[in-house]
Amino acid sequence: MNHETVYILDFGAQYAQLIARRIREQQCYCEIVPFNVDPDRLRGARGIILTGGPASVYAEHAPHCNPGIFELGIPVLGICYGMQIMSHLLGGQVEAADHREYGHAQLDIAHEGLLFDGIDSPTPVWMSHGDRVENPGPGFETLATTTNTPYAAVRHPEKKLYGIQFHPEVTHTERGRDMLGNFVLRVCGMSGDWQMGSFIEETVARVREQVGKDAGVVLGLSGGVDSIVVAKLLERAIGDHLHPIFVDNGLLRQNEAEQVRAAFADHFDIPLHFVDATDRFHAKLAGVVDPERKRKIIGHEFIDVFKEKARAFGDVKFLAQGTLYPDVIESVAAHGGPTATIKTHHNVGGLPAELGFELVEPLRELFKDEVRTIGRAMGLPERMVSRQPFPGPGLAVRVLGDITPERLRVLREADVIIQDEIRSAGLYNKLWQSFGVLLPVQSVGVMGDGRTYENVVAVRAVHSVDAMTASVAPLPHDLLGRISNRVINEVRGINRVVYDISSKPPATIEWE
Ligand code: XMP
Repeated sequence: MNHETVYILDFGAQYAQLIARRIREQQCYCEIVPFNVDPDRLRGARGIILTGGPASVYAEHAPHCNPGIFELGIPVLGICYGMQIMSHLLGGQVEAADHREYGHAQLDIAHEGLLFDGIDSPTPVWMSHGDRVENPGPGFETLATTTNTPYAAVRHPEKKLYGIQFHPEVTHTERGRDMLGNFVLRVCGMSGDWQMGSFIEETVARVREQVGKDAGVVLGLSGGVDSIVVAKLLERAIGDHLHPIFVDNGLLRQNEAEQVRAAFADHFDIPLHFVDATDRFHAKLAGVVDPERKRKIIGHEFIDVFKEKARAFGDVKFLAQGTLYPDVIESVAAHGGPTATIKTHHNVGGLPAELGFELVEPLRELFKDEVRTIGRAMGLPERMVSRQPFPGPGLAVRVLGDITPERLRVLREADVIIQDEIRSAGLYNKLWQSFGVLLPVQSVGVMGDGRTYENVVAVRAVHSVDAMTASVAPLPHDLLGRISNRVINEVRGINRVVYDISSKPPATIEWE
């Protein structure tokens, strides 16, 4: 690939992909590579970024990069641990600070230089470190300080090496984006002409190379933006060697199956294979109330349906998935260690091993809003591209307790009204998700002159950037009032509506 490239050396940072995303926002191409990459591989790069990481440079198995990278004549930006390892390898000194520094700090800029060009001092930055640089090494000069950190930013002018102790990639560092922009555009002199359009061309080429000419690829299409964009990329790459399968598990929203099928037919040339598996799923879920059991049953049943269908195609060697970066970090620990399973998401892990297919995951490094940008660039309609996420297990995790056709009907009808009112208020595209949840409780009410003893629906609406955290959307009271009135009046079986005011964490977005 012939681009100007920034390489990001990953030292186990929580935020390596966030750094990559910030670089893409500057319209510069970047790749994440392991910290111990051979310097020869980096020749020709325009810039190198060393990420943060959890280790101390003196720890026994601390990740060290090859010091040869500092001799390539390519500008380097070390962030947090990246700065410490650079100082450590270049004759400086790193020590445990008396106090761990975590949170906001004010950065006093002593030398603006190119890195801080256009940034007023002081400026708020985000710190998260235990060790700190006591002496950056020969040839380095101080660019900025904070109260606790004498070397909050340093530079080696001849070698174009920069180190910053704070994290420019997180939004708490108010001008962090501009600092990273200054690094790639000013210090590295990149032209900033890389576009998501190039991502499309490169991904199409990469998929063709991975899949070859004759093999088939199956794709579980949910109707959500991720799987639709994967379908579009793969259709372009391999045409009718792609076999998209839409499984109606009987846990979809009102008219959803029909809408997805119609929209697909309008925007794709290849056929969508449809399986109505409602009865199978409902039979397996009868009487099951435990959330994890529901998820496992649905995951397994989905695999079985999928296997049966995929076998019929004959040529299938690959399975495509719309896995995004946040799915990867929530499901797998960054370095292979165990993480706590909060919920069993059924599109990551499990599936390929069971099916014996190789994976094709073209969106694995992207965030949702980047996927939407690609969808738009590929001509998909706004209705598909800006659709709010919907979980794989569908309404099964929104009908709390027993899943019966009647309880599904109640929630479906309530959910249509909630969506309708949210859209009419012009809020649908401003919310990460908005939906109803049918609670497993009944409450007493009075309608007309009579007593009722009916179901409760909770309304959930959240803001989020990647679903890893979420805040409650402050929906206007009159909107909540309209939703409540309509749901209680129009849906048989509901006499109470409540609003969920819990953020994630400590709650999660879905209730199960
Ligand atoms: P939670 O409830 O864990 O959800 O805060 C985070 C985001 O993921 C969606 N979600 C799922 N998506 N398969 C999916 O594809 C799943 O099993 C699943 N469970 C939750 C949820 O809607 C939210 O956007």
